[in-house]
Order: sequence, then structure tokens, then C-alpha cells
Amino acid sequence: MFLLCTIAASLLCFLLLKWMKRRRMCMDLKRLDGKTVLITGGNSGIGKETAVALAMRGARVVITCRDPERAEKAVREIKMRSHSLNVLHMHLDLANLRSIRDFCHKFLQTEKRLDILINNAGMPGVLDWTDDSFSMCFGVNHLGHFLLTNLLLGHLKECAPSRVITLTCSLYKYQKLDFQDLNYNLLPFFTYCRSKLANIYFTQELARLMEGKGVTAYSVHPGYIQSNWTCHYSILFQMLMKVVMLMFFVPCEVGAQTVIHCAVVDDVNQHSGGYFSDCRQSALQPFAKDPGIAKKLWEASERLVGLA
Ligand SMILES: NC(=O)c1ccc[n+]([C@@H]2O[C@H](COP(=O)([O-])OP(=O)(O)OC[C@H]3O[C@@H](n4cnc5c(N)ncnc54)[C@H](OP(=O)(O)O)[C@@H]3O)[C@@H](O)[C@H]2O)c1
Repeated sequence: MFLLCTIAASLLCFLLLKWMKRRRMCMDLKRLDGKTVLITGGNSGIGKETAVALAMRGARVVITCRDPERAEKAVREIKMRSHSLNVLHMHLDLANLRSIRDFCHKFLQTEKRLDILINNAGMPGVLDWTDDSFSMCFGVNHLGHFLLTNLLLGHLKECAPSRVITLTCSLYKYQKLDFQDLNYNLLPFFTYCRSKLANIYFTQELARLMEGKGVTAYSVHPGYIQSNWTCHYSILFQMLMKVVMLMFFVPCEVGAQTVIHCAVVDDVNQHSGGYFSDCRQSALQPFAKDPGIAKKLWEASERLVGLA
């Protein structure tokens, strides 16, 4: 009897977990021949899976990475899995404004097109600082991508209709931005939430500024994914999270689906500035839809990265 109850309870748990982890897949088969896609942090996790999927559809895929060895290894894997030779890497460290400017200079000189920019790279909550003394999360996740996108906007406009997709996280809802302390760096979890909220405001303001110019913008929550983000923490935490991730998180291939959806689906165009999750537009908390804050963050970011 005890054995039967244990088996029934295990089966129930298994089915419940399977139900909790169910996610939509992008069913649109649109090809991207002739298009160029740029993916930051395309050497790992969700970015690498996105690169494989978009290279398979015929796009020229440029991934950025801060380590040449990891980049080479990822490019080899992406080429092998996508059966495409049109994949390359370029060096970019989003924690360094100089590196971003150098990267853009090189990209604009060597690449004729930019049709889809995927701001994927991201740091989880860590209490560190970038080379330019910004908090690591805010600096890499928001400011780095802010500068990158602005420097590539000319190319995006020339290739219109083009898209900018920025990875955010549903954890955005646990924090608000403090304009007196945008560089907040006290609790790692909160620094991450704030940087991901900034990604959402950035997308909304970008969409507004690009209205009528053929560049559309989307923010994407990929779900909770079994990627490599735990590598920034202790071995003990990594081991613990391995178990948690196996139980509750989904594979990177699944995490890439909403990004792919925003990159290829035609209807998405009507929802520029929108927040997407599970291959459809999703509602935001009211405070995350404030155009005044989005504009204020844009102007503050321009000053911080030296664009103003
Ligand atoms: N995993 C999740 O559950 C989850 C949930 C919600 C949102 N997201 C978002 O999804 C995106 C992708 O994350 P992931 O889960 O795929 O994590 P990941 O496997 O750790 O990949 C993160 C990528 O960002 C790159 N990166 C980090 N710092 C960088 C820097 N200073 N300059 C350039 N590249 C840098 C990493 O490069 P290195 O290999 O050199 O470190 C790596 O390629 C992130 O924006 C994350 O916030 C993830």
C-alpha cells in the first residue's frame, strides 16, 4: 500500500512538473535568407540556441563574445548544428564602453546589413563594477546594450524593416528604478531586477523614437532556463541550482523560442515596444508602462554613456 501511494505521488509530481514547464514553440517557418542577425552573448545558453535556429533559417549570424576561445568553440558548434557556414564571431565586452565603440566601428565597416539585433547577453545579480564604474548588472544588461543599439541604429534604419529584441526577465516586477541611484549595487537580486526593468523601458522608448522609421523593438522574457548563468556563483550554489533547474527550468532550446518568434513572425510588427513571453505578447505591471520614466531613463542613459 505504502509503495503504491509513493508511486502515485511520484507520478502526480512528475505530471505536475511537466504541466508547469509546458511552453509554446515558434511554429512560423519563415526563412531569413539574405538577412543579417547580430546576437550578443551568442556563445552560451539562450543566445547560442537562438543563433543555431536563425542560422538554420538562412540568416548570416554574427555572435559576439568576450573570449576568443569560447567564441571559436561556439561558432564551430553553431555551424555544425545549423548546417550553415554563414556564422562568425566578433569580440565585444559589454562591461567596457570603449570595447562597445570599437566593436560597432568594426561591425559597421565590415557588415553591409543589420536586420535583427538581439540584445541577449546578460549578467545575473552580482555585486561587481564595470570598467567604467557602473554596477555590473545595470552596466552590462542595460547601458551596454543601450550604447550598442544607438551606435548601430543607422544600419538598422537602412535595412528597415528591422527589429531590436532585448532579453528581459519577469523578475522586473520586484523593483522600481531609483533615478537618484541608477547605479544601485547593494542586493544582487535587486540589481538584476532593476537592470531587467530598464530593458523594458529601453524597448518602449526605442519603439517610440523609431515610429515610422521601420525599426521595431520588443522585450522578451524567455522563461526560466537551464543556461550557464550560475557559473558566476560558488560551486555549492551551482550544485544546488542544478537540481532546482532540472526540476523547474526548461532547456535553452525552449528559452530561445520567444526570441525566434519576435525575430520572424510578421504580426509582431504591430506590437512594437511590447513585452513578449511564451511566444505571445504579455501584460506588464502598470508601473512598467510609464512613458515618462522610459523617456527619463533614455536621457539619463545618454548622459551616462556619453551620447548626449
Ligand atoms: N536563464 C534564465 O532563466 C533567464 C531568465 C530570464 C531572462 N534571462 C536573460 O536571458 C539572457 C541570456 O542569458 P542566459 O540564461 O542564456 O545566460 P548565459 O548562458 O549565462 O549567457 C549569458 C551570455 O552573456 C554574456 N555576457 C555576460 N557578460 C558579458 C559582458 N560583459 N560582455 C559581453 N557578453 C557578456 C556571456 O558571455 P560569457 O560566456 O563570456 O560569460 C554569455 O554569452 C540574459 O539577458 C538573461 O538576463 C535568462
